[in-house]
Amino acid sequence: MLGPRRGWQALRRCVSLPRAQREVRLRVREALGAREPAGEVKVQGWVRSVRSQKEVLFLHINDGSSLENLQVVADPSLENRDLTFGSAVEVQGKLVKSPHRMQNMELKAETIRVVGPCDTLAFPLKTKERHPLEYVRQFPHLRCRNNTLGSLLRIRSEATAAIHSFFQDNGYVHIHTPIITSNDCEGAGELFQIETSNEAREPAEKTHFFDVPAFLTVSGQLHLEVMAGAFTHVFTFGPTFRAENSQSRRHLAEFYMVEAELSFTESLEDIMQVMEDLFKTVTSTVFSKCPRDVELFHKYIAPAQKDRLEKTLKNKFVIISYNEAVEILKQASQTFTFKPEWGCDLQTEHEKYLVKHCGEVPVFVINYPYDLKPFYMRDNEDGPQHTVAAVDLLVPGIGELCGGSLREERLPFLRSRLQRYLDLRKFGSVPHGGFGMGFERYLQYILGVENIKDVIPFPRFSHSCLL
Ligand code: 4AD
Ligand code: MG
Repeated sequence: MLGPRRGWQALRRCVSLPRAQREVRLRVREALGAREPAGEVKVQGWVRSVRSQKEVLFLHINDGSSLENLQVVADPSLENRDLTFGSAVEVQGKLVKSPHRMQNMELKAETIRVVGPCDTLAFPLKTKERHPLEYVRQFPHLRCRNNTLGSLLRIRSEATAAIHSFFQDNGYVHIHTPIITSNDCEGAGELFQIETSNEAREPAEKTHFFDVPAFLTVSGQLHLEVMAGAFTHVFTFGPTFRAENSQSRRHLAEFYMVEAELSFTESLEDIMQVMEDLFKTVTSTVFSKCPRDVELFHKYIAPAQKDRLEKTLKNKFVIISYNEAVEILKQASQTFTFKPEWGCDLQTEHEKYLVKHCGEVPVFVINYPYDLKPFYMRDNEDGPQHTVAAVDLLVPGIGELCGGSLREERLPFLRSRLQRYLDLRKFGSVPHGGFGMGFERYLQYILGVENIKDVIPFPRFSHSCLL
């Protein structure tokens, strides 16, 4: 997004140009942030409100560059039938100081052109209404013109940039890991298999496009491990697919995962430190880069979230072992649907209880039973209860936000578990570990959004088959 300064640098550069080229196109955000008045500017966007008075016509324009609208003040003679809520307009005029206490600048219109009219009766979004998220979810093609989704998507964009900066600033190399792959990294069988579309239609000529079964990736980890064997610190941040129940409020079939892999790492503490630093740095950056957008969530969607998160950013995350977690659950006065037993996976109800028990803060749970976790996790060689060096980060309201581990780098330990993985361990094998964080769950957590479907740009296959 253009900062206000860039627009004004452009404006200054234009001063000596011939008149026809002097008009400067400004984003709403730039116009609102301008320090000095200016003539001959043009703003394009969608009308958020029209208020016609005897002496003056007021419009509010939004172009997606900020939550705040730009006020346009015009002579009533500029009003026309097509100038309605939702219409697309181009306004040309002078940027002047606003007499209003709440805004810095306003646009004194000289011309208003309706570029695209909007039938307000048929348009599902209504002026001045605060639509619930469940309502706007029904209109995947229009919901980006709603304030809440607008803010969410700007935050998503800043969080994406902050994640990349975090890793780049810390010396990680970004790797594009494949989306189509033959591996089931997690071994959980939650795979979408890929076939060409004509296969179903022409069974007689049935040939597979790939000579091995191919799937949409469930994790870029194995490819990252390859690269960590040359670059030491690598990360990937891309779409990930899981054929699991996407009806839950924290599961998607397609989601974005941030994954990091660190070589020459022998302790789970090092991995947890990166997870914690990533969370804290990215969250602080998002809060400072889009304060008004974040405020919308913390005011209307999850009122107590701001204070809780600010406290979280100042304190160290809690660390407990799986053994301790099971003891805490066994001693709980609450009765669970799934009885807590050593060796059983932690269910959502258990994760919620643990987070509450620790004071509604992020909690790392480490050292899970060997039999619960994928083949690549490092054997702790402990007993009598056998565990692996795994870590899950649990957060309030969501449950698991990140999952990671030290990787099993010792050939003899792996030999019994998986053939394919072995070659990586024959040539300069080093201790290493990594983790993955679900980007949508991250946004859900920091913004306090109840349903994961409300933090993605397009809810899957809803309403319109075109999307
Ligand atoms: O715990 P997971 O399955 O870990 C891995 O895939 C590792 N290979 C990562 C690594 O070590 N490189 O997934 C990581 C995170 C989860 O903690 C969760 O936040 C998110 O991905 N996640 C989902 N988010 C939305 N919808 C789903 N269906 C998700 N499944 C996992
Ligand atoms: Mg996991």
